[in-house]
Amino acid sequence: MRRPLIKKLGLVFGPRCRLQRIWLILCLVSVFVLVLIVLSSSPSSSFDSVTLTVKPDIHASYRRIKEQALNDYLDLSSLSLGDSNLKEIKLCGKERENYVPCYNVSANLVIGFKNGEEFDRHCEVSKGEPYCLVRPPKDYKTPLSWPVGRDVIWNENVKITKDQFLSSGSMTKRLMLMEENQISFQSDDMFDGVKDYSHQVAEMIGLGSDAEFHQAGVRIVLDIGCGFGSFGAHLLSLKLMTVCMAAYELTGSQVQISLERGLPAIIGNFNSRQLPFPSLSYDMVHCAECGILWDKKDGLLLIEADRILKPGGYFVLHGSSLSTKKGSMANPIEDFAQKICWNFISQQEETFIWQKTVDPQRCLSSVQGTIPPCTEEREDFQSYYQPLASCVGGTTSKRWFPIQNRSTNRIQPDEFTEDFESSLSALRNYWSLLTPLIFSDHPKRPGDEDPLPPYNMIRNVMDMNAQYGGLNAAFLEEEKAVWVMNVVPIRARNTLPVIFDQGFAGVLHDWCEPFPTYPLTYDMLHANGLLSYLISEQCSITNLLLEMDRILRPEGWVVLSDEAGCIEKARSIATQIRWEARVIDLENGSEQKILVCQKPFVRK
Ligand SMILES: *[C@@H]1O[C@H](CO)[C@@H](O)[C@H](O)[C@H]1NC(C)=O
Ligand SMILES: *[C@@H]1O[C@H](CO)[C@@H](O)[C@H](O)[C@H]1NC(C)=O
Ligand SMILES: *[C@@H]1O[C@H](CO)[C@@H](O)[C@H](O)[C@H]1NC(C)=O
Repeated sequence: MRRPLIKKLGLVFGPRCRLQRIWLILCLVSVFVLVLIVLSSSPSSSFDSVTLTVKPDIHASYRRIKEQALNDYLDLSSLSLGDSNLKEIKLCGKERENYVPCYNVSANLVIGFKNGEEFDRHCEVSKGEPYCLVRPPKDYKTPLSWPVGRDVIWNENVKITKDQFLSSGSMTKRLMLMEENQISFQSDDMFDGVKDYSHQVAEMIGLGSDAEFHQAGVRIVLDIGCGFGSFGAHLLSLKLMTVCMAAYELTGSQVQISLERGLPAIIGNFNSRQLPFPSLSYDMVHCAECGILWDKKDGLLLIEADRILKPGGYFVLHGSSLSTKKGSMANPIEDFAQKICWNFISQQEETFIWQKTVDPQRCLSSVQGTIPPCTEEREDFQSYYQPLASCVGGTTSKRWFPIQNRSTNRIQPDEFTEDFESSLSALRNYWSLLTPLIFSDHPKRPGDEDPLPPYNMIRNVMDMNAQYGGLNAAFLEEEKAVWVMNVVPIRARNTLPVIFDQGFAGVLHDWCEPFPTYPLTYDMLHANGLLSYLISEQCSITNLLLEMDRILRPEGWVVLSDEAGCIEKARSIATQIRWEARVIDLENGSEQKILVCQKPFVRK
């Protein structure tokens, strides 16, 4: 009875071809089985995939499955045969020690980027570079644990030259002392430059002291070009979240050194595209000699600073070049500041402060020559690689609350509470298994002396699929001395505003691309539901894990929670990357599994 069907399909077999026919059937069966396997390992229950995988079109999802089957097949074939003899991925050479993908200026120039755009992030240029594992520099040493490591880092762990350090003019950089194999950032006891400066800024905005920043609504600060983070370190001690952002630097990187000190930092280009933060995110944007020419580009950079500032937030500018002209009105930025309705507050010596308006409607409509508000569509963008806009953002947002009045206006979606509760219970439940390992109050790193509790060895944490920032909130609740970079994947539910509104650090990111940070900068990477989400997005899990390996410090931890199929796949790649990996079943009988890995300290 099958013949007619086969005939219809144009496949007529003579007796001689019976063998081929069996082969064909075998092939069809195996393709079917492969599709089944892929289907069963593709997302079905996690939060993100349920809300994000749109399946109205059978053809589209069939194409996805087919492409995914091909991806997986390629991944699998590179794994060689059998679990027992998986090929280990080879180590990179010395030239990759400091490797940050997407920032190859010479390659960007060759391709034709110019006018400063060659310094921007261009990931398409680094695509297709061969796999290898980035290794620590020869004399890399485990960073000192927090808070000692905030003030003293190992010289060999970061790429910086003595000349670079000595010739740097920035106020905070001058506070460093370079010793034989350590760089120390003398804190307030010895030099009070940073403390004085912070106090000055507080006074300029009308506060009695910098201890009052919080009461004035300042909780989260973006420090552009942060020197080596000393201002941020001081603000953190006042419980202000301060994120350092600077462009990629080949040596003497402000971001690398801040992270080495355990201070929040990320590579970011304030140049031709919008920053990967939503509108109305920060209470203060700070630039001390940060090298940005604010009065150029028709004020577009100031408009972008305005976009990410919350209403009533502060723009603080400090620099010797600013004070050459006397008086605020002579400041070239003031013209633009008026066009976006900033109020000039104060000038003292080389420091200038403006405040973002709390009433855009009145200002933008009544003053001649102001920049128009953005249209609503423009507002809805998740600003990833968006060109700079010449319109004022956020004016129609539901989140338009002056920072000074924050306590009376808090958005708390129901899911937010749910996410927090579940992260907290996750932390209490399954992490209790890991706590003796990861959050030991008696950390024993080789060669360490015994630090006193509660100085654990985890400081820089990344939640790669942060949702509402529940993990961060749970850490705070448990009073762990960590900070969390809350990453919200693009095209996932845009929860970043809620993360920022809690005063947490966050960023939008496409996990099909490398993360904008230096190698060996995080102690722990956590991701719940990210693998299944990325499989639905057709990103390579192998690339993702290699990237995680790059940014993870030696002996750092990975905690992945996902569906069994994804976890199994990640486990086999983890073995190739030489991580020590262990799968943990949840006791409550759910489909989810947890993969806990530790990156080894490989010297060569
Ligand atoms: C940067 O690009 C150039 C030219 O394409 C290439 O020769 C070089 O190896 C690249 N550098 C890195 C660190 O990948
Ligand atoms: C803050 O709220 C109070 C009333 O709750 C109001 O009087 C005040 O003007 C508000 N401040 C700002 C800056 O909007
Ligand atoms: C099991 O526990 C995990 C983590 O605590 C939770 O996410 C999951 O929803 C639970 N599953 C069931 C079936 O209760």
